[in-house]
Amino acid sequence: MQTIYYDLRDTKGQQKEIEDKISAAAKILREGGLVGIPTETVYGLGADGSNPAAVRRIFEVKGRPQDNPLILHVTGAQWLPRYCVDIPPVAYTLARKFWPGPLTMILKRQPGVPDETTAGLDTVGIRCPNHPVTLAIIREAGMAIAAPSANTSGRPSCTTAQDVMEDVGGRVDMVVDGGPCTVGVESTVLDLTCEPPRLLRPGGLPVEDIERLIGHVDVDRAVVASLGPEERPGAPGMKYRHYAPKAPVTVVTGAPMNSAREIERRAGPGAGVICFDEYAHLFPQQLVHSLGPSNDKQLQAQRVFEALRSFDATGVTEIFAQCPDNRGLGLAVSNRLKKAAGFHVIDADSQRIILGITGGTGAGKTSALDALRSLGGTVIDCDAVYHAVLSGSEDFKNAINEKFPGVFSQEGQLNRRKLGQEVFAKRDRLDQLNAIVFRFLIPELERLVAAQEGLCALDAVNLFESGLDRLCDRTIAVTAPTELRVKRIMGRDRISEQYARLRINAQKQDEYYRGKCDCELNNATESPEEFRKDALLFFERLVESIREEKRHG
Ligand code: TXA
Ligand code: MG
Repeated sequence: MQTIYYDLRDTKGQQKEIEDKISAAAKILREGGLVGIPTETVYGLGADGSNPAAVRRIFEVKGRPQDNPLILHVTGAQWLPRYCVDIPPVAYTLARKFWPGPLTMILKRQPGVPDETTAGLDTVGIRCPNHPVTLAIIREAGMAIAAPSANTSGRPSCTTAQDVMEDVGGRVDMVVDGGPCTVGVESTVLDLTCEPPRLLRPGGLPVEDIERLIGHVDVDRAVVASLGPEERPGAPGMKYRHYAPKAPVTVVTGAPMNSAREIERRAGPGAGVICFDEYAHLFPQQLVHSLGPSNDKQLQAQRVFEALRSFDATGVTEIFAQCPDNRGLGLAVSNRLKKAAGFHVIDADSQRIILGITGGTGAGKTSALDALRSLGGTVIDCDAVYHAVLSGSEDFKNAINEKFPGVFSQEGQLNRRKLGQEVFAKRDRLDQLNAIVFRFLIPELERLVAAQEGLCALDAVNLFESGLDRLCDRTIAVTAPTELRVKRIMGRDRISEQYARLRINAQKQDEYYRGKCDCELNNATESPEEFRKDALLFFERLVESIREEKRHG
């Protein structure tokens, strides 16, 4: 079947030509055909709402479950008595304020409305879309257009005429292009057959706006959670897994900074990421689709379906999505994302705190970590993880052996001292070793960090070179005067002063750590006891301020 594509994006253009095209669309509808129509929310797939055969075709083309009713699209509240009975005054109050616009009202239906349209319910959904082209088509056709969103069932809704052509082109008679949808998420569905009215689907009209006009509105549970097998949502459509891209989606809620960091911890290279503009730079190795700035929910609504759709043309095997809070349009955006994820949601505002601790040898990292442990923290010793991963991985050993022949014994034991002497004095050799180590170590460390729940410290000499700093809420440099460090390592490791100095000089100096880290813990005292006390106080304050920050986003 050939689908006629009509471009009516510029409604101020050739008046006569536009009128002809609108008449042609109206004629197709009167004759029982299907037309893709623009609205301010999403594109609809329209048919004559009073023609059972035409309505049945909508269900066929979309692959829509039979029990999911359609919305009737009208040009104003004067149409209500034609399709509804027992209309409460509040319906007119709402229509006066919000129509034309993204509000669908559920009302008792007139017996004449076909069962095909209402899926056999004794109620009907009605809305007046805010789009000049579709309003003109309805007027010209002289009928209410029954229209679901134009996507094939289960896919993200269509926000451009191209999306409609992609989903149902070749199976409908006409698609009318009225430009990209300005709202971007579907209408808010409000049930007015109960008291108080009930929000069945959050959408382009924020529920706060409705409550300001008519008082308290109940929220159907299906809006915020996935329902059990016995539960029935107020809007039949809310029970289906919707808007789903082909790859599985994980939604991450919480303060934007926290959710971005959480996604950073979890998303492997090549994953798809839906995020706010401010955080896009955190994902150089991922395929990013930006939702707009974190404070612009209108833009997020416009972009959410396009974002979900965009990954289907790519090879991503998992998608992570940052999620706005539930206020205003955020409720609709977050509902669409969560449904796309089958309500697989992670809250990034949990109490997990990751501290990156770094600094030169002998500065006092070990005592600092002891202090953290006494606050209930877990310490991940990156050096220990390095040796555990190394001993279990032939690939890892081979990679080192190739660049540093002879550092392994016959039995496969690493001679640390030999490798140390090789790299401590030579910058480029150290870089070569690090490149190999990071490649094998980082994925394991990322997994360990992701599994943490409370306070956790990452003890890493190469916190920044390895990129591990990005997993941390704060990075802390433990520093100390060089002469104190020399004395400490001589005593601790029973080595000569010369070798102690060699080791210190091979490492980065305090200046470097100070410049890179968020904060500094300076250990200038000769008394280990005193330092432990300093460290304890330092971490207590730090953890408290991070918790505070997480609470307030
Ligand atoms: O913005 C929109 O509402 C778009 C544009 C095209 O107008 N339409 C749309 O239609 O989203 P659809 O069919 O994709 O979603 C309609 C939702 C479904 O969840 C359906 O179950 C619910 O509204 N619905 C329709 N009639 C209902 C009724 N009588 N009682 C309860 N829920 C109803
Ligand atoms: Mg839909």
